[in-house]
Amino acid sequence: MPNAAKPADPRVESLLARMTVEEKVGQLGVFADMVRPFAPDVNPENNVRNAGEVLEQVRAGRVGSLFNGVGAAQGREIQRVAVEESRLGIPVILAADVIHGMRTVFPIPLGEAASFEPELAYRTARATAIEATAAGIHWTYAPAVDIARDQRWGRGAEGAGEDTFLGCAFAAARVRGFQGADLRAADSLLATPKHFVGYGAVAAGMEYNYVEIAEGTLRDVHLPPFKAALDAGALAVMTAFNDINGVPASANHALLTGLLREQWGFPGVVVSDYTADMELVAHGYAADDRDATLRAFSAGMDMSMQSGFYAAHLPALVESGQVPMAALDAAVRRVLELKAAVGLFDDPYRSLDPARESDVSQLPAHEALARDAARRSIVLLRNEADVLPLRGGQRIAAIGPFVRDRDNIEGCWTLFGDKTRYVTLEEGLRAGLPAGSTLEVVDGCGLEAPLEGGIEAAVAAARAADVVLLAVGEPQRYSGEAQSRTRIVIPPAQQALAEAVAATGTPVVVLLRNGRALALEGAVRDAAAILVTWFLGSQTGHAVADVVYGGYSPSARLPVSFPHDSGQQPFFYNHPRTGRPETPEMSEFKARWREHPNTALYPFGHGLGYARIEYGPTAVSAPVLDWDGTLEVRATVRNAGTRAVEEVVQLYLHDRVGSRVRPVRELKGFRKLELQPGESREVVFALSRAQLAFTRADVSHGAEPGAFDVWIAPSSVAGAPARFELLPPQDAARG
Ligand code: BGC
Repeated sequence: MPNAAKPADPRVESLLARMTVEEKVGQLGVFADMVRPFAPDVNPENNVRNAGEVLEQVRAGRVGSLFNGVGAAQGREIQRVAVEESRLGIPVILAADVIHGMRTVFPIPLGEAASFEPELAYRTARATAIEATAAGIHWTYAPAVDIARDQRWGRGAEGAGEDTFLGCAFAAARVRGFQGADLRAADSLLATPKHFVGYGAVAAGMEYNYVEIAEGTLRDVHLPPFKAALDAGALAVMTAFNDINGVPASANHALLTGLLREQWGFPGVVVSDYTADMELVAHGYAADDRDATLRAFSAGMDMSMQSGFYAAHLPALVESGQVPMAALDAAVRRVLELKAAVGLFDDPYRSLDPARESDVSQLPAHEALARDAARRSIVLLRNEADVLPLRGGQRIAAIGPFVRDRDNIEGCWTLFGDKTRYVTLEEGLRAGLPAGSTLEVVDGCGLEAPLEGGIEAAVAAARAADVVLLAVGEPQRYSGEAQSRTRIVIPPAQQALAEAVAATGTPVVVLLRNGRALALEGAVRDAAAILVTWFLGSQTGHAVADVVYGGYSPSARLPVSFPHDSGQQPFFYNHPRTGRPETPEMSEFKARWREHPNTALYPFGHGLGYARIEYGPTAVSAPVLDWDGTLEVRATVRNAGTRAVEEVVQLYLHDRVGSRVRPVRELKGFRKLELQPGESREVVFALSRAQLAFTRADVSHGAEPGAFDVWIAPSSVAGAPARFELLPPQDAARG
């Protein structure tokens, strides 16, 4: 891409000089790839073209990019038409939604964020890129880096949860993993942080809804993961469907041009979300199709996905002078530079090699990674009387609609997973069954409806068992795009099953299937043990068995707060302080609900392993932090248990007085470390002014002198803080 370090590709300028307006506009069009097998359930009503028409458009130079088709051989044929049969021979770039795996499916991104291991996300993204590029894909519409503070919203499953610091770490790791070290390599998959911006803040968690957001919240919470992704080298950004304070994100000049291009210096391509330019009319922000085109393009949207609006209206807008030719050229230049950056002008058949596709279709290393990633994503919320791990010699009843299920394993946005390789819970539990244990499997109910005789069979199995593994939760289609919920609970038929099984008195271990934080109720909430298993992907059954039978001690932590009740949403741990916090001293006139305390049932950062970890007090190296200085924060953690575990040590900060009301706590660091039985480790974090910065009342970014609390703790609510003071610059100067 053009930047100070790298000169523009001369082939790009030479092409630009020869292109007609129609050919230029053609480069800005992204259309469904109807030539190759296409993921049929994605927006089917808009896929009106057929394969012949699409190829004809490629031949005519009217297509810059195709998306969501798959296959190297047919991809090669598309490219051959573009390169050999179009007038200027400009290659197309082939894109797809490859979000958390290709043939091998890894945990949903929210689940993987629970690992608190960005390095793991790097590795799964790398593996995903290897498989996707082998299948003839150059470009993924991922990672989703939206911060989801409202669990009613279904697309939280695609991101890294409610916290910005964690979100930034995962955004950057995923970009690096997809793209690899060399963008031109055959296994480099171009990344696209999305959806720019504020999509996770839709009102009431309702998909596609409006966003009304304070400037400071936008800047401090929702924008940083995009910046982190771009700093990690992402060269494309996808716009969001929502408006922001009245201006649709996809026609938002202040954000797309003012911030992204001018302030951040983003050199890459801005691609619309699916028909987002068309939707400006429905928003009531554009009078008609032509007006929508003008507004989206003028705001800074380079590529238009699927609406065909740019093809239909940009030439006339250029002709009339409403869109300057220079602006059109700038957008086309960015698209061509993107193609140059990924090596398509040197080798248009890059990543379109059928031999490589068959070699890479099933890699044992990717299966092993999928299993490890899955077990590293499982969160143990509760473990009364150490019911987990199960010991050998037990009679186990595995009950619930997910035990044998194969259709709710992959999670949302998995278009190309190889379902024949998915390991069900039953398969995994049987494969790992300890010697002397028995396993009985009963469905008990359907995902949403009771089964004739289901509860009776489940109760009989529970009675005959020493322990029940109860696999309940959300069907897969409850999360992902367009899947907002008003009540984030388990479907009633499953809850009824849980109540009946619990009433037998046999200890219950819940294996929760979920694409968001849930409000757990009744017997599910009160079960002896609860494992949050999200949608774990291909190796689901083996990963759960590893944890349940003790081969792996759970090491994940919640990236989203589990509330007491749906009505608490939006609920997130790092909320601003109120004037009437809920403290024991205050009367009933305080910030709380009538029915529930103003807390999480299980907070962000919470998770247990198979050993108790003790935290010593948090200490700071000095009571003051000079304006340009650093401070060390330290604590000793000790494994008081009898087996090695991994602990996620978390650093939280609170600014005690600010020009804007500050969050009660904010994550500023984390470290996952392995602790042997009895082992103690001192954990040290460095703090400097940069980590204390926020968007101040005057909208400038920076820290404010004054007192801060700091915690090294096992969750966002645990521990007692140490305190220090950030000195103002003049005090530091005085010494
Ligand atoms: C989604 C995007 C996705 C696009 C292309 C849209 O509906 O919002 O996340 O990349 O479709 O499939």
